[in-house]
Amino acid sequence: MNHLLKNVRPYGESATDVRLVDGRIAEIGTGLPEGSSRVHDGAGAVLLPGLVDLHTHLREPGREDAETVATGTLAAALGGFTAVHAMANTDPVADTAGVVEQVWRLGREAGHCDVAPVGAVTVGLGGQQMAELGTMADSAARVRVFSDDGKCVSDAGLMRRALEYVKAFDGVIAQHAQEPRLTVGSQMNEGVQSSLLGLTGWPAVAEEAIIARDCLLAAHVDSRLHVCHVSTAGSVDLLRWAKNKGWKVTAEVTPHHLLLTDDLAATYDPLYKVNPPLRTQADVDALREGLADGTIDCVATDHAPHALEDKEAEWGAALPGMTGLETALAVVALTMVETGRLDWRSVADRMSHTPARIGRLDGAPEPQGRPLAVGEPANLCLVDPGARWTVDPHESASRSRNTPFVGRELPVRVVATFLRGRPTVLDGKPAPA
Ligand code: DOR
Ligand code: ZN
Repeated sequence: MNHLLKNVRPYGESATDVRLVDGRIAEIGTGLPEGSSRVHDGAGAVLLPGLVDLHTHLREPGREDAETVATGTLAAALGGFTAVHAMANTDPVADTAGVVEQVWRLGREAGHCDVAPVGAVTVGLGGQQMAELGTMADSAARVRVFSDDGKCVSDAGLMRRALEYVKAFDGVIAQHAQEPRLTVGSQMNEGVQSSLLGLTGWPAVAEEAIIARDCLLAAHVDSRLHVCHVSTAGSVDLLRWAKNKGWKVTAEVTPHHLLLTDDLAATYDPLYKVNPPLRTQADVDALREGLADGTIDCVATDHAPHALEDKEAEWGAALPGMTGLETALAVVALTMVETGRLDWRSVADRMSHTPARIGRLDGAPEPQGRPLAVGEPANLCLVDPGARWTVDPHESASRSRNTPFVGRELPVRVVATFLRGRPTVLDGKPAPA
């Protein structure tokens, strides 16, 4: 079916009509005739390219009680995403062509958004032996992003070899930067709050030491490094240094690190336990500045659903992680748009064009993160910029409930999402297939 979006504002700019035909943007212009198209009144909503997440935990295979590919990708569509990268720390680990193809196929079957599996760097995330990166790259899943996320590739020799190896297929190593010897038993950010609360600290230097090392390694072998969930002001400085050198280093920040601080640990509510931990207001300010000036390339959710029994435990026993797909755009609007740091065009850059380019989805057979222009695939999301809503975990499509934004009022709401011209979300609800 063809669709006509009336009175929408591409990138938040002037209002126009957009017609979608055969999965592509066929026409953009004011006063387009209805013809045989199904008409949607945009009422001045902001039209963005479908969002692309570089960092989603879908938990399948292995922890289908916390999330499945189907439930996680539906949550993604409701959040305006048309593609997500599925992290490799599943059970079994996504360290073979068989597992990445399974995850990719489950994504196709569910149909809510594209799933680009991330391949593990090391066998079983063990940090010892490199996984068969080439066979994952050559598989139907066309893996380009490799990560042991959840764990750091801490062996410098192995990291160097992985960086060298992925050059053959234009891949990238996405590092979870956490020096393990500096974070033994760590529970929260190391600082004033951890001293007051008596919880073992996770110092900023544990992240920064790995980022500095890996930037040097990426430069040494002229390969691509991506730094996951940057959380400290010092990390932003290091990235600025590496970029000034012209090295092929990119980075992401999560919505929760753009808004929340380690003061929340004082509640002892494990909803606020995450890895890397929430940091200080000075770190939050530096992350916002880094995202605004492009030192940090993109936003990634690190959507990390956990079953109730893994989250409703005492702080020390609870697993780290927060859900984030359905709240990501709203938190970015709150922290970056409403504060005047980013306009909608820049939001599209940080949440669609750039993550798609880093993951090499922009040139895939079914491209993602492409500009809003005639002839491009109709991967779109439509956002009501005036909406305000209160986060209710029971309304989430995710199988898990661990959102740290529970009860908060947030701005902007995704009203529709289109995947190659087909609505996956309409009126803020899942669209019937
Ligand atoms: O908080 C986190 N949760 N950080 C990670 O690195 C892993 C993730 C998970 O898989 O739950
Ligand atoms: Zn991580």
